[in-house]
Amino acid sequence: MFRLLVTGGAGFIGSNFVHYLLRHTDYHVVVLDKLTYAGNPASLLGIPENRLTFIQGDIVDAELVRPLVSSVDAIVHYAAESHNDNSLSNPNPFLHTNVIGTYVLLEAARIHGTRIHHISTDEVYGDLELDDPARFTEATPYNPSSPYSSTKASSDMLVRAWARSFNVAATISNCSNNYGPYQHVEKFIPRQITNILVGGRPKLYGRGQNVRDWIYADDHSSAVHAILTAGRIGETYLIGADGERDNKSVVELILKLMGRDADAYDHVPDRAGHDLRYAIDSTKLRHELGWRPKYDDFERGLSKTIDWYRTNESWWSASKFATEARYGRSGH
Ligand code: NAD
Ligand code: TYD
Repeated sequence: MFRLLVTGGAGFIGSNFVHYLLRHTDYHVVVLDKLTYAGNPASLLGIPENRLTFIQGDIVDAELVRPLVSSVDAIVHYAAESHNDNSLSNPNPFLHTNVIGTYVLLEAARIHGTRIHHISTDEVYGDLELDDPARFTEATPYNPSSPYSSTKASSDMLVRAWARSFNVAATISNCSNNYGPYQHVEKFIPRQITNILVGGRPKLYGRGQNVRDWIYADDHSSAVHAILTAGRIGETYLIGADGERDNKSVVELILKLMGRDADAYDHVPDRAGHDLRYAIDSTKLRHELGWRPKYDDFERGLSKTIDWYRTNESWWSASKFATEARYGRSGH
């Protein structure tokens, strides 16, 4: 049986990927996750023991990582500190996990000759003007804005260097903003849904004109699996579902789908250094690997996501209070 190490598999996108593998493959998945504030073992509930081994630990711990890597056929590396707002208040864990953690995994992959797929973000490319006809492609120069995106950019550079200098069998994907089940309530879409569910109001940064290119998490998973199994070694693939929307219209759509007035939200101060627009051109992935997103209707994906948060309050309620207290302290 094919054994796959998934780092960060108790986080949002990692756990969606594990569920995807359960439905679409017969792999045995080994999850390595530190269970930071963002990791939740409840996201992996219901997965049979013969398909999943869960190990709590830090990817920076080389003594733990090396034997683990020697016991698997491949690695998909999701583990990261992932939230821009947190990176602005304390960049330190971002350096630790995103940079040093990726280095430790690459060294283990080099020593054991293990295939590795590295998960990254479109934020490494910086931002675009609202009226720029261009979108990000694999050839766009790196230009990260925040401690989060600069540490992800660093990790991508390490992967490229280890592939070239040591022939590590690596691929990289840079995906746009994900939404769907199991996303932490600190992030934009689940924060607004759960604010409404607890009787509060959505919070929009600045004027809400910033544009994100939304993709349903399950579509990200199918793309990663396609790259893992059929991608060309050494290559980078951009993943996106043509889902550009400005934040204001996303908040208004959430309010509409939840039966509230379209203006029942609050403006809060803008994020420092806030990237204006991200947009992905995923032509390479679509042409080379024949990948297509299944959830290309944003309103349908958003309705499914709202239903999930409505019926899974026990999954998110414990972290909601602490998250809003943190936002309160930073004025957001
Ligand atoms: P997340 O914050 O929900 O999950 C991260 C997971 O990594 C958590 O389970 C956490 O416990 C674990 N982790 C953190 N530090 C660790 C360490 N040192 N050792 C082991 N485990 C550790 O993040 P996410 O949104 O699921 O993002 C996953 C990956 O996808 C990241 O690499 C991120 O950069 C990338 N990405 C995210 C998005 C998005 O929209 N969320 C878009 C593109 C790419
Ligand atoms: P976020 O989910 O933090 O993702 P990223 O910063 O990686 O794009 O935020 C998405 C967008 O939503 C971003 O432009 C910031 C904005 N935002 C709000 O307007 N209100 C909020 O409460 C949050 C958390 C984000």
